[in-house]
Amino acid sequence: MCGIAGYIGTRNAVDVVFDQLKRLEYRGYDSAGVAFVQADRIGILKRAGKLTQLGGLIEQEKPEANLAIAHSRWATHGGPTDFNAHPHYDQQAKIALIHNGIIENYLELKEELVRAGHTFQSETDTEVAAHIIGREYVEGVSLEDAVRKAVQKMRGAFGFVVISHLDPEKLVCARNASPLVVGLGEGENMVASDIPALLPYTRRVAILENDMVATVTRGEIKVIGLDGRKLELSPFEVDWDIAAAEKGGYDHFMLKEIHEQPAVVRSALAGRIEGHGVALQGLFSDHVWQEIDRVVIIACGTAFHAGLMGKTLFERVLQLPTDVYFSSEFRYGEPVVSPRSLAVFISQSGETADSLAALRLCKSRRIRTLGIVNVVGSSIARECDRTIMTQAGPEISVASTKAYTAQCIVLLLLALHIAQVKETPGVRVGNMVQDLRNFTGYVQASLSLESEMREVAEMFQDAKLVFFLGRNADAHVSLEAALKLKEVAYVPTQECPAGEMKHGPLALIEPGVLAVFGATDSDVREKTVSNMKEVQARGGYVLALTTEDDSSLDSVADRVVKVPKSGSPYLNALVSIVPLQLLAYYVAKARGCEIDQPRNLAKSVTVE
Ligand code: AGP
Repeated sequence: MCGIAGYIGTRNAVDVVFDQLKRLEYRGYDSAGVAFVQADRIGILKRAGKLTQLGGLIEQEKPEANLAIAHSRWATHGGPTDFNAHPHYDQQAKIALIHNGIIENYLELKEELVRAGHTFQSETDTEVAAHIIGREYVEGVSLEDAVRKAVQKMRGAFGFVVISHLDPEKLVCARNASPLVVGLGEGENMVASDIPALLPYTRRVAILENDMVATVTRGEIKVIGLDGRKLELSPFEVDWDIAAAEKGGYDHFMLKEIHEQPAVVRSALAGRIEGHGVALQGLFSDHVWQEIDRVVIIACGTAFHAGLMGKTLFERVLQLPTDVYFSSEFRYGEPVVSPRSLAVFISQSGETADSLAALRLCKSRRIRTLGIVNVVGSSIARECDRTIMTQAGPEISVASTKAYTAQCIVLLLLALHIAQVKETPGVRVGNMVQDLRNFTGYVQASLSLESEMREVAEMFQDAKLVFFLGRNADAHVSLEAALKLKEVAYVPTQECPAGEMKHGPLALIEPGVLAVFGATDSDVREKTVSNMKEVQARGGYVLALTTEDDSSLDSVADRVVKVPKSGSPYLNALVSIVPLQLLAYYVAKARGCEIDQPRNLAKSVTVE
């Protein structure tokens, strides 16, 4: 989850890497630091706290350098202190190292080093890694070979970047699991843990693969494997414009990304619907879909909620038995899967540790794996047998919004693709494709509810508890809406299928409690009305979301929000997430919350 930045070139390297860290702030962190090479030494400035603390230090010292690295740390080993902040020196201060990930055998390595007389300033596994590399970096051994030998002594996930004043013209990077991407410039090159940090400087990037050791100089980037063999990078142009990774005029990335959803739906569909059909490329060959007799969807958080929408589709549209698992539960739960199962991994970042571990478990059991991922070149995207990219662009806010919508759209495309291949009777693919074509407009129209949702948010900004209820797909959207409100506004929520109220949660209803009902599904709306009345009878306030053609709730709910109506219950429920995302955003704004970087959370949970 840490932010990594490195630069070598003609600019002031410390300014560049500090700017890159700012573009990685969303990853969540609790300390930050820079290291820079000067004539006969490596300087390090680092501080616990936000980047402003480090910025003040840089302002004071005004270091000049053409080679620098920087790091924003999300504490795993050792608390968020100045000493534990990265970068770290080795024993002789010959190198400085920054690291993203966890070295699982760092304690045994540390004991060995202490016995050999090493002393440590921090409690971190990273400092141990620096000493291991420093110990290899002796006369006649290149920095890249020292790194290559040292990483073979370490177990765990890491993305390292190392510099030394003894070799002031290069950065050396090594990757195992934690993401590293290099940026190729003119007379300058750089490295980061995520693409947005590179965009102001270059659009030409390349993903470092596991077990690669890259030597980055001003003029070139050379890559070797752990055995020293020369390897090739696959550079590509990033078409995200810089604004896409900036706030673009909105107060928060979250609001910007909520408003990006019409474009994201268009992008998720781009090149994937043709005429009256779906045109997904690069998936399994047709006979495989005849063979698959069960789907397991594996994900965390918001992606798990999208997975529940996938279950609705695969079972309702395809009659394909489908189970949805939290990744952390799947990987330790002895799941029952067979060679005729398909494991679908949904992940915005493509780096969620539990999802990646579950993926590797499935691959070890030779289960076919399919990824639905947003970040290009991410681990899950690369390790799945097949992957459909959600094409939602960089999602910066910790609270996932546009990625969720894109995931649900891709799941519908996948269901229709399978229906087409299997010629599933009764599935009107053409009608659903037309609905998908219109969906961008429905999402756009639902954004016009922003002022109404802001009004509701301000009415309930001090809510002590909010219910989110629904049936079928509305129940799944309710789970996602509840997570948003919890995540960004820190409001406790109670979410469950509406029919479950009487089995316990109803006890929590009392005067003043807000109950948000998703009631877009006309087949079960009447049942849901009785749940609304149960809430009102106990003093609760009912906010109901329904489709624009429905007036049956006008005389029932205390407030009704109407969303555009499409031809499918799935899309009717999905479009209702937009006003609910806005509700969460404006409650958080009214409460003065951090919004893009909620307390305790990070954008990508790359450690267990
Ligand atoms: C959602 O708003 C949260 N940020 C979180 O639940 C997130 O969805 C979860 O950590 C999964 O992340 P992924 O999609 O990158 O795997």
